[in-house]
Amino acid sequence: MQNLNWYPGHMTKARRMMQEQLGLVDLLIELADARVPAGSRNPDIAELCGSKPRILVLNKADLADPVRTERYASALREAGQPVLIMDARTRKDTGGVRRAMEEACRAKIERDRRRGILNRPLRAMAVGIPNVGKSTLINTLAGRGSAKVGNRPGVTKGKQWISLGGTMQLLDTPGILWPRFEDPRIGVRLALIGSISDDILDIGELASQLIRYLTAEYPGIMGKRYSGENICFPVIEGEDQTAHLRAVAAVRNLWKKGQEPDLARAAALIIDDFRSGRLGRISLEDGRL
Ligand code: G4P
Repeated sequence: MQNLNWYPGHMTKARRMMQEQLGLVDLLIELADARVPAGSRNPDIAELCGSKPRILVLNKADLADPVRTERYASALREAGQPVLIMDARTRKDTGGVRRAMEEACRAKIERDRRRGILNRPLRAMAVGIPNVGKSTLINTLAGRGSAKVGNRPGVTKGKQWISLGGTMQLLDTPGILWPRFEDPRIGVRLALIGSISDDILDIGELASQLIRYLTAEYPGIMGKRYSGENICFPVIEGEDQTAHLRAVAAVRNLWKKGQEPDLARAAALIIDDFRSGRLGRISLEDGRL
């Protein structure tokens, strides 16, 4: 496996940009992918954030194993960290975000009030590694469609604040954190959720890792989706790691010329089915801290 971390130059620039943006806000909305709740967080966030309040949003909860998501959220809540479980595409949870923001800034509002500063807007920004749903959350909170924030023609460059009603404002552009991890297994998880490019790993290898994990953690889930008339899962585990891929290729009629199973297409199909939730609600971590 190649080095899955960003190279230092890139990281230094991202870190500098983050620090600049952080100076503008009172609190952070940190997004993580609920399927990889620990691994999709940047471990430097606490240090970067300093004493500013921080709310953790476990996003894409609609795709994650609800028991594991709740386990992770409860453990953090017990430690005093505000945590929200969300599907950022829907508006139903936005009230919860606003309430959590107010709650997290209560001490600051009090301090301001004592100094005679009234109704100064609380400013927040969304941060997280790529693909965790930062733009989606900003759009949903702003009551907009699904257009990518800051990526649309006609959008004025520079800092824009979205009013969230009351005295809260959200920075229109998210802070992009860089994935950071030492354990290569976390690299695989991040590739599976699309937070790091999946061409760092051979797609067949990525799918094989997913299959191995699913067989151990969610037995029966592959069979439920891919069993065919003549093929059923689990196929025999053995030296040949491509056995499952060949079975999926056969069930889905994915052949190369000469009746060879198309393993690359089978691998891509399995990964796509996982990413879109068609395999079910699956988490890649157990939710323990
Ligand atoms: P980012 O800014 O953190 O990089 O992430 P972004 O909002 O662009 O979201 C990445 C993808 O994840 C988008 O899908 C988005 O729709 C999807 N997404 C965001 N939040 C959720 C969620 O809570 N649940 C689910 N199931 N999906 C979510 P896309 O396929 O890249 O784009 P699109 O076709 O949906 O626009």
